[in-house]
Amino acid sequence: MTTTQNARTPLRDRDPAIRVRHLEKSYGELHVLRGVDFDVATGSIFALLGSNGAGKTTIVRILSTLLKPDAGTATVEGLDVTTDPTRVRESISLTGQFAAVDEILSGRENLVLVAKLRHLTNPGGVADDLLARFNLVEAGGRRVSTYSGGMRRRLDIAMSLIGRPRVIFLDEPTTGLDPEGRLEVWQVVQELAHQGTTVLLTTQYLDEAEQLADRIAILHQGHIIANGTLAELKQLLPPAKVEYVEKQPTLEEIFLTLVGTTGAIDTVKDQS
Ligand SMILES: Nc1ncnc2c1ncn2[C@@H]1O[C@H](COP(=O)(O)OP(=O)(O)OP(=O)(O)O)[C@@H](O)[C@H]1O
Ligand SMILES: [Mg+2]
Repeated sequence: MTTTQNARTPLRDRDPAIRVRHLEKSYGELHVLRGVDFDVATGSIFALLGSNGAGKTTIVRILSTLLKPDAGTATVEGLDVTTDPTRVRESISLTGQFAAVDEILSGRENLVLVAKLRHLTNPGGVADDLLARFNLVEAGGRRVSTYSGGMRRRLDIAMSLIGRPRVIFLDEPTTGLDPEGRLEVWQVVQELAHQGTTVLLTTQYLDEAEQLADRIAILHQGHIIANGTLAELKQLLPPAKVEYVEKQPTLEEIFLTLVGTTGAIDTVKDQS
């Protein structure tokens, strides 16, 4: 691979959609991010894993311009989140850890409202397209307070797609959903990436990262302690042997070994 610049290839095409360098953030005495580095390739799904309080939401809030870092840099689509927040906001959307839909409005009214806020020309058409795409046509006229958790999440993600953001942040998109609801969200996320949208998601469900992500990064004690494809992460642990059948470590075993207080590799091997 050459690193020299080719005048015929725009540099932007090869730049990552998200670039994070030496990011630091404290809340008072609590030094949450202590030098975080990672890249997310355009059109890929990147999963950020970490225990409760590791700082996942903090990273998402910094990348979506809601919070300023103390040190380091972060760019989204080549734009610096601290010096160019307005343009960053134009290219992203955020689905927060807690659903942001209005309970009293119907699903369709929620979508129309956001489309109007974004000054789109045909808010009703945009809403109807998204209801169809997210399998919410029948529920579209009903108050959101009558929706299941999965329907709410789908609506939330649908709302975040209005205006066609190039990068979307999903902070624990499937927390609290049943298996069916999770599958529905996974399909939506995969479809988004397929269409070229860059997706950064945080999750505590290791199978979610395993199923969805092109790359997985583990945030622990303020640093990214592992970052790779699932296959690369699996190579961090030797396969455990179970009665002549070679068993690959699961992401859960890798995670627990890397962050675990009792995380000796031998312990993980013995669990099989
Ligand atoms: N505004 C704040 N003021 C003080 N402390 C904060 C603030 N926001 C977050 N924290 C603390 O910073 C740490 C990281 O929080 P953050 O929400 O980023 O973690 P997380 O990885 O998203 O956790 P979870 O998995 O529970 O969502 C936690 O200890 C949290 O209590
Ligand atoms: Mg969080």
